[in-house]
Amino acid sequence: MNNIIFMKYLSIFFVSLLLLSCGENKTDKKNTNLDKEFGVDFSNKGIGPIKELKFDEIDEELVQKGAAAYRSKCTACHAIDKKLIGPALKGIYKRRSPEWVVNLLLNPTEMLKKDPIAMALLKEYNNIMMLNQNLSEDEALAIAEFMRTL
Ligand code: HEC
Repeated sequence: MNNIIFMKYLSIFFVSLLLLSCGENKTDKKNTNLDKEFGVDFSNKGIGPIKELKFDEIDEELVQKGAAAYRSKCTACHAIDKKLIGPALKGIYKRRSPEWVVNLLLNPTEMLKKDPIAMALLKEYNNIMMLNQNLSEDEALAIAEFMRTL
């Protein structure tokens, strides 16, 4: 093989390497975007009546009340640790602020239209809208307390 042909092959080899690594960068970017959409953002408190919610020690009585409401109003669409019609709810406070969660329960229709995390979830869950269950604030807070125990 003379030198010129050798150089030609060598440059083809390097150009392919370069293209390959560009391809990899593209997929990296895509994944980062996805992470951003579902980004853990505790400063996002959602849209609704709950402006501040600080959790204290777990209130067992409230958990029991919340568990009963959860069983009758949420289990059609949610399971604790697997995807159903909606996301699994275990560890919800590791990815969402408590205010965001309770506002979603009280005001899902508006949140799904305007809140960036809720909008991304809606897209991911095939545009199935979480229903407004007309929960009272007390009921929503009881369910929120129950979800701390999952
Ligand atoms: C009709 C089915 C349905 C019912 C009933 C329902 N949900 Fe949902 N839920 C969803 C879907 C679907 C999503 C994802 C967002 C979307 O597409 O609306 C969701 C999202 C959520 C989220 C956000 C999860 C995350 O990862 O950020 C929480 C929290 C939640 N639901 C809690 C509840 C609770 C508590 C109840 C009962 C009071 C309930 N949901 C009732 C379908 C439902």
